[in-house]
Amino acid sequence: MRQTLSRLFPRLFSRFFLYAAVAGLFLCAANLFLCSSLTAQQALTPYSYSIPKKALVSHGAVVSAHPLASQVGVSILQQGGNAFDAAIATQLALAVVYPAAGNIGGGGFMVAHLAGPTHSPVKSGAGTKGATAKTASAKSATTGPNSREIALDFRERAPAAATRDMYLDAAGNPVQGLSESGHLASGVPGTIAGLFAELKYAKLPFAKLIQPAIDLAENGFVITAGEARNLNSAQGAFKNYNTVQPVFVKAVDWKKGDTLVQKDLAKTLRLIRDKGAKGFYEGETARLILEEMHRGKGIITAADLQGYKAIERTPSIFSYKNYSIVTMPLPSSGGVVLQQMLKMAEDQPLASYGFESVKAVHFMTEVERLAYADRAQYLGDRDFYSVPVDTLVSPAYIRSRLALIPARAGNSRDIKAGVLSPASEETTHLDVIDAKGNAVSITTTLNGGFGNKVVVGGAGFFLNNEMDDFSIKPGVPNMYGAVGTEANAIAPGKRMLSSMSPTIVLDKGKVYLVVGTPGGTTITTSVFQTLVDILDFGLSTEDAVNLPKFHHQWLPDEIFVEPAFSTTTRDSLKVMGYTVAQRGSIGRTEVIKVLPDQRIEAVADSRGDDAAVGY
Ligand code: DON
Repeated sequence: MRQTLSRLFPRLFSRFFLYAAVAGLFLCAANLFLCSSLTAQQALTPYSYSIPKKALVSHGAVVSAHPLASQVGVSILQQGGNAFDAAIATQLALAVVYPAAGNIGGGGFMVAHLAGPTHSPVKSGAGTKGATAKTASAKSATTGPNSREIALDFRERAPAAATRDMYLDAAGNPVQGLSESGHLASGVPGTIAGLFAELKYAKLPFAKLIQPAIDLAENGFVITAGEARNLNSAQGAFKNYNTVQPVFVKAVDWKKGDTLVQKDLAKTLRLIRDKGAKGFYEGETARLILEEMHRGKGIITAADLQGYKAIERTPSIFSYKNYSIVTMPLPSSGGVVLQQMLKMAEDQPLASYGFESVKAVHFMTEVERLAYADRAQYLGDRDFYSVPVDTLVSPAYIRSRLALIPARAGNSRDIKAGVLSPASEETTHLDVIDAKGNAVSITTTLNGGFGNKVVVGGAGFFLNNEMDDFSIKPGVPNMYGAVGTEANAIAPGKRMLSSMSPTIVLDKGKVYLVVGTPGGTTITTSVFQTLVDILDFGLSTEDAVNLPKFHHQWLPDEIFVEPAFSTTTRDSLKVMGYTVAQRGSIGRTEVIKVLPDQRIEAVADSRGDDAAVGY
């Protein structure tokens, strides 16, 4: 116990802490409420914290992109909150401590497992049905007598004044950067509507869940070296695109240990605490967003804000070997693309090929190419475009696609696609599990790092640049090199296609894995590889998270590999005819795994400041 505690909270674990804990236990017996608040105070250390990468615990855990956010989530679990309470508090804390991607001005998706007292496995093939949701009604899926799988869509949507060609000049050519930075790049934010939709499954009052975020914004926290680098790299863009100078602009470089205080954001969060979702979509915050739009020639209106709704969708559920995979349906491409890739892989003897072997990488690359070709052609918001989901995931279609895999390198041909721009990627994923077996997997984003780079004047939060995820013109690549067609063309009120793939793996109806990652179009391939690494190659959770990943997305026709990817395998792939390109890190994968003895293993990616905390 002492060892576990000291590993999780090395700075807290002192003689003083021991005395305080004993005193706390005594008080706890006398006064449950006081015990809760003591626990919360002990957990949060905004001016001095470490970055724990792994937690091996018995009750509950949170993995997120920032140690303070993970601590906030666990302290909520310790105060009697369930996985949904913890996820809400973690998400809100991320909006403060991780401004590059944590957000209230963006959007995202949640996949969750609501545990019941008894469980039974989902039937094979249930996914075809599950992926067909078309309406906005609540459609959670049942995987056992009392358990439920939930998919929540709080993706941004195009403002009512958006038009199909809004990022093209008079000659019909894309205007450089218009969909990526500045006021026009922003979709109508969905995060706050999402948080209140999540609240339906939570237990604690919202005021309690948002308070840690308010405190972190009001009193500040010290930033990590990574955050300092992020902020410094965006200074030019901040100055360029803001109509009111934000707190993120600094005369001298940010450095590790500087304190970031966000008074305007604290004020906005208090409005949300006191007025609910209306504290964002109406009143003072809405007024500030509209004034910002007016100053920057943006097109989001009061009606756009008031009209935004988070939508519960039928989750995409399908079998992989003996497991049930629960993931996000459209408007995330994740459900279809992950199902296609895993179904193509299901009957291959991948384990015998070996992790990172030429044979395995060749096969998985071709599977990725095939799935991403369909993504570009067919996938978009089903509320606006008829997507043949059933066909795309049907066994006959999967067999016909498998038959196309050549013995050597395949070829994606024609359309010229752009180069991925990893430097500006910023999304964030969090996993939570609680003592009752409820699990939450949330990926949320501003799209690029710091979104459209615009901080709403007086309100203190960044807006997203999610409009770039639409296909602004058929065949023109977005900032992740993804191309699209009519299915993902811009239309008023439409949600732009996403790759975000929050995923839960069930074993006999109980949570086995909670998985997700940021990384633009690499998200779905990273989730695919993480699952295959664990379920087929038998890698440890840490290896599945941290060992090198690769990515192919049909166009551009290249295999992107991380720097540590095997040079021998690279060379053999080149001999087979592949173009292999090294790039920066791929994703920041977070995984929670439930061990056979029911202990919880939570692992945070070593590629960033991501932290795993539990109790
Ligand atoms: O929804 C999507 O697929 C993208 N907007 C996600 C962007 C992203 O993951 C950037 N981060 N690393």
